Amino acid sequence: MGELDGTAMEDEFDVAAAWTEEAARALGPGHAVPAGCRGSGSVGSLRWLADRLDLAPGDLLVDSGAGVGGPARWVAGERQVAPVCLEPMVGAVRASRRLFGLPSAVALAQALPLRDGVTGAAWNLGVLCTTEDKAGALGELHRVLRPGGRLGLLVFARVVDELPEPAPEGNSFPTVPELDALLDAAGFDVRDRTVADLGDSPPGWQEAADAVDAEVARRHGEDPRYRRSAEQSRRVGALLSAGALRPELVVAARRA
Ligand SMILES: C[S@@+](CC[C@H](N)C(=O)[O-])C[C@H]1O[C@@H](n2cnc3c(N)ncnc32)[C@H](O)[C@@H]1O
Repeated sequence: MGELDGTAMEDEFDVAAAWTEEAARALGPGHAVPAGCRGSGSVGSLRWLADRLDLAPGDLLVDSGAGVGGPARWVAGERQVAPVCLEPMVGAVRASRRLFGLPSAVALAQALPLRDGVTGAAWNLGVLCTTEDKAGALGELHRVLRPGGRLGLLVFARVVDELPEPAPEGNSFPTVPELDALLDAAGFDVRDRTVADLGDSPPGWQEAADAVDAEVARRHGEDPRYRRSAEQSRRVGALLSAGALRPELVVAARRA
C-alpha cells in the first residue's frame, strides 16, 4: 500500500473497515449495505449515478476504491450488474468479500489490475479526495474503460479558498474547476452533474448505519485507532456542514 501505511487513513479505511464488518455481522441482516457505504453518500446518489452509467444486466462495473463494498452490493442488487471491487486496504477488501461475496482485490486506483478497455462502466466514490495523484487515478480509469464508456464520480469539492478547519489527514479536496480540468486532461467529457443530497436514503437506512457505528464504538471506542478514525470522519462532516465542501456527482464519458 505504501503511501497509505500506518496513517490515520489506514485507521479509517483498513482497521475501521474490519470493525465495520464485525459489527454488521453482529447486528444481523439489513445492516451491512448501509454500513458498507462509507462516503458514497446516499441511496439517491447511487441511483442517480447508476441511472446514467448505461448499465445493462450482466455488465461489468469496476468499483475503484470500493471500500467495504456497500455501493457495489447495492448496484449489483438493483441493476443486476457484476461489480469488481478494487481497493488498497486489505481490511476493506476482506469485508467486501465476506459480507457480500463480491469479487474484490487489493489495488490502488493508480494501478488497476485490469486490461485496457475491459469495461463499459466504472465508478469511483469518495476516492479522488483521498489521493494526491488524482490524474494517475483518472488515467487508469480511462485506460480500463472502452471508448464511450461511462465513469461515475462522487467528489467532495472545495468551494471556499481556505478550509475553516484542517482537512482529514491524507485528504485533498479539488475545486470544481480543478476537477473539470483533471477530467478533461485524462480524456473524459462530462455528461451530467449534480450536487448530491446526502440524506436521500430510504427509511431505516441511516439508522442501520448509525447502529453499526455505535456497535463499533462500543467494541473499540477505547482504541486510539478508533479515535483517529472517528476524527477523520468528524472533519469531513464538519467541512460539509460548514459548506466548505460540496458533494459533487459527475458522470463522464471516455473520449475515443
Ligand atoms: C471515503 S472511502 C469510500 C469507499 C467507497 N467508495 C464507498 O463509497 O463506500 C474512500 C476509499 O478510497 C480508498 N482509497 C484511498 N486511496 C486510494 C487510492 N489511491 N486508490 C484507490 N482507493 C483509494 C480508501 O481506502 C477508502 O476505502
